[in-house]
Amino acid sequence: MASSHSYTLFIIIISFLLISISITSSNANFSENFLESITMMRMEKTTHLHFYFQDVLSGKNPTAVKIIGEGIGFGTTFMIDDKLTEGVEPDSKIIGRAQGMYSLAAQNDAALLMIVTFAFTEWSYNGSSISMLGRNHVFDDVREMPIVGGSGMFRFARGYALAHTVWFDPKTGDASVEYNVTVQHF
Ligand SMILES: *[C@@H]1O[C@H](CO)[C@@H](O)[C@H](O)[C@H]1NC(C)=O
Ligand SMILES: *[C@@H]1O[C@H](CO)[C@@H](O)[C@H](O)[C@H]1NC(C)=O
Ligand SMILES: *[C@@H]1O[C@H](CO)[C@@H](O)[C@H](O)[C@H]1NC(C)=O
Repeated sequence: MASSHSYTLFIIIISFLLISISITSSNANFSENFLESITMMRMEKTTHLHFYFQDVLSGKNPTAVKIIGEGIGFGTTFMIDDKLTEGVEPDSKIIGRAQGMYSLAAQNDAALLMIVTFAFTEWSYNGSSISMLGRNHVFDDVREMPIVGGSGMFRFARGYALAHTVWFDPKTGDASVEYNVTVQHF
């Protein structure tokens, strides 16, 4: 019968998988492989996050500080520890920090390289983080940047962030940026 043939084939494939797994996990002190079918049984979740990024370069307590470059030009780099807030107002509830850096990465354009960890401090997200790495063409209405990983409840995270500048002061460089982040994780 066709079904018993496919059952036999299934057993052969599974045995082959088990054999190849036992071969590839021989350096047990360095790495361990898990049977993919067991890993895949955990449900993947999708989480949407919405928050505002408060970039403050001016005043007595800036949260974005220039660490590389004279003036502002190609290569200028800022280190940031910006507040993430629930609302657009800079004094609204703090839900985390955006820690990392951004650099002017284009010679003839306003494009930043963003290397940022969003470290959350509220609710069940407290202590969990997501890592964003990407290009931010700052004068576009909406910019998309990849989410490349995460920690805590965001382990194995991957996804994307959409950023939109709500408010920008060209004199100081201060800005409030809306973020919608979509991440898949376990
Ligand atoms: C792997 O770790 C065990 C236990 O710590 C140790 O006895 C063994 O020598 C290690 N093997 C290698 C190849 O380092
Ligand atoms: C978040 O976690 C830290 C460290 O465990 C703790 O000190 C802090 O009170 C927590 N914050 C909230 C809002 O639960
Ligand atoms: C974020 O999502 C909200 C609600 O869907 C929407 O109103 C807003 O325009 C979005 N902003 C960005 C930058 O995607």
